[in-house]
Amino acid sequence: MTTLRIRRPDDWHLHLRDGEALAAVLPHTVRQFGRAIVMPNLKPPVTTTAAARAYRERIMALLPATSAFQPLMTLYLTDRTDPAEIAVARASGIVAGCKLYPAGATTNSDSGVTDIRRIDAVLERMAEHGVPLQVHAEVTAADVDVFDREKRFIDEILVPLHLRLPSLRIVLEHATTRAAAEFVKAARSNVAATLTPQHIAMNRNALFAGGIRPHHYCLPVLKRESDRVALLEAAVSGDPRFFLGTDSAPHARAAKETACGCAGIYSAHAAIELYAETFEAAGALERLEGFASEFGPRFYGLPLNAGFITLEKREWIVPQHYPFAGGDVLVPLRAGEPLAWRMTD
Ligand code: DOR
Ligand code: ZN
Repeated sequence: MTTLRIRRPDDWHLHLRDGEALAAVLPHTVRQFGRAIVMPNLKPPVTTTAAARAYRERIMALLPATSAFQPLMTLYLTDRTDPAEIAVARASGIVAGCKLYPAGATTNSDSGVTDIRRIDAVLERMAEHGVPLQVHAEVTAADVDVFDREKRFIDEILVPLHLRLPSLRIVLEHATTRAAAEFVKAARSNVAATLTPQHIAMNRNALFAGGIRPHHYCLPVLKRESDRVALLEAAVSGDPRFFLGTDSAPHARAAKETACGCAGIYSAHAAIELYAETFEAAGALERLEGFASEFGPRFYGLPLNAGFITLEKREWIVPQHYPFAGGDVLVPLRAGEPLAWRMTD
């Protein structure tokens, strides 16, 4: 049997939700990852350090006493974020960054930023205090083709921002295009990107394979094959500016399988196994550890995890669904299909 032992990985972009949903999904992440950057798009959003602390405590309360898992919290930026909040966040030691959702770009982004220039003072404080900006990089104008929204955001918002505030640390979250990979490579070393399991393994054909496939719908949406290839090349390149962030985003089955389904792919049940399969197919399994366990902590200025995990090349079938909140279930990525790798517990 083939086995692979790597340092325990971290998930640098994760949606954990709250309440019953949080309790349902948290064990999946904790099984694999030492830490996770927890997204703040709750209802209402996590906009202050005090709210992030309370959310962190709700997560910690669900962990077994023996667990060393650490949630790394984020603040949700709005047009009204107080620049003074940044120093408070930095001093708290529990906030790993601030998330920029352009208003209306995705799930629970209604309170997001309507114009980046409205938060200039906040961004300046973030640069001063070394607080990373995590970006959902899509313009929201209705007249921009949905497949062009990331590139337009890079050209119109991110490139000027990086020129204006070169010391601001930026993570282009869930990169989906060749343009995103190229932006990161051309930028300074304080600009990075997270890559999801779906965007390095699938292209937009997966949205329509044999019929419309709501469980392959996320935002930013899957792009064309040439984009996927560019993202996979970045992932396996050993370039430390590209690292693991699942963007695992649970929604109840009824909210996905409907006339106007929610955006979000659930991958936390098998995240490291999904990445292992894709890295192996690219002939780059030896690059998985850097991508999954080393480059993220290096970017965020955190120590590497002390422990290790073992993956075995042993086929298993992903369950059709997992229990979720409100009596509904959660349909995971690759539901009912075989996966080649399994992490041993
Ligand atoms: O597909 C997505 N789902 N993209 C996001 O940006 C948000 C996420 C969610 O919270 O469901
Ligand atoms: Zn996300």
